[in-house]
Amino acid sequence: MYNEMEDKRTEGLVSIINKLLLVIVVLVITIVAIPFILFYKSQPVKPDTPVPNAATAAEAVKTDATNYWAAPDINSITDAAQKEQVLYGQELIAHTAKYLGPNGSVQKISNGLNCQNCHLQAGTAVFGNNYGSVASLYPKFRARSGSVENVYKRVNDCFERSLNGKALSNTGKEMQAIVSYINFVGSNVEKGKKAEGSGFKELAFLDRAADPQNGMTVYTAKCQSCHQANGEGVLTADKTEYTYPALWGSNSFNDGAGLYRISNFAKYVKYNMPQGVTHLNTQLADEEAWDVAAYILSQTRPHINVPKDWPDISKKPVDHPFGPYADVFTEKQHKYGPFKPIVEEQKKREESAKQKTATIVKN
Ligand code: HEC
Ligand code: HEC
Repeated sequence: MYNEMEDKRTEGLVSIINKLLLVIVVLVITIVAIPFILFYKSQPVKPDTPVPNAATAAEAVKTDATNYWAAPDINSITDAAQKEQVLYGQELIAHTAKYLGPNGSVQKISNGLNCQNCHLQAGTAVFGNNYGSVASLYPKFRARSGSVENVYKRVNDCFERSLNGKALSNTGKEMQAIVSYINFVGSNVEKGKKAEGSGFKELAFLDRAADPQNGMTVYTAKCQSCHQANGEGVLTADKTEYTYPALWGSNSFNDGAGLYRISNFAKYVKYNMPQGVTHLNTQLADEEAWDVAAYILSQTRPHINVPKDWPDISKKPVDHPFGPYADVFTEKQHKYGPFKPIVEEQKKREESAKQKTATIVKN
């Protein structure tokens, strides 16, 4: 009798202790887990180092592969001669200076930059100024020249401006290889269509002018370690190409280049710099991207004479920094902004032009 009662009491006690233990374990797990959950939720997808870790990079590739254009695989080319030519083209885009730079082994016709410095991953990176839409959209009319341009002309534009150099002969081995590569890269895009993620990703205008003074602070903190305080970059040990390309000075792109327009520069930087950044894990705030662009574009660089550019001045982009203009805004405002008033004015002008043609048609 006595023993039985004792047993039951112990049983009861054990079961209460078990329940208590369970409650304690659950409580402890919850308490430990809460800060972790909160911490991860509050973390933006920004790594604190410029180079994303393997997990973020894999994530980026996955999202990019499903949402954006990707270049076809060169190994899928069955014709041996074509494959060799495309591979040489890729090599010329990635290491232009080795072949065509100041110490180039083929010709010495450019400033030491590689095409790839601005067209990342040999022109295949999503929003890294890639070549996805070149084969599908060229030849096309460009307002800068006021003419229909083919791929050869467009490539030589970058040689003469971005690489502050000389044009390549259209029939030479190097130009043939570059065009063959660019056409292969875009061969999986339907004619007339734009590849998703090609060129630059859009960036909203600021309400104020971009500020070179703020930009200097950004430059010192986030760019200088690679591109150097004097903006001249760092060459490789054998001096055939840049490890960190020049951003201004005599070896940089000239003032007729696409990157000399502040909107192009800010977009490139926002979604691609510091090195390792992509559109999925940016590091600069929009204001920082505009301001650092203003700082770099206010430094000295080579000048190119291009009197035939923009034959129709009303077609100049709002951030084309050289007059004359079809509006009343100064060169300074066209260089640094604010751009919203210029856009407004341009819209009004286009509207009234449309109305005029409408009246002419009616009459
Ligand atoms: C300093 C940066 C820079 C370098 C270096 C550079 N480019 Fe460009 N390139 C640009 C920019 C910026 C644009 C877009 C310009 C615009 O839309 O106004 C562009 C546009 C192009 C386009 C047209 C793309 C399109 O979708 O319309 C081609 C083709 C091209 N570049 C080829 C080259 C080649 C080939 C080289 C090397 C010989 C080269 N680029 C070097 C900055 C550069
Ligand atoms: C960790 C080193 C590193 C940092 C930091 C860095 N860059 Fe770069 N940058 C590079 C490299 C490398 C390239 C060439 C990319 C390639 O060839 O793949 C480049 C290319 C560029 C280019 C195009 C090429 C040219 O010479 O004009 C611009 C513009 C640029 N960087 C601006 C910036 C700005 C602005 C910052 C700061 C916000 C910055 N970079 C920070 C390494 C860096």
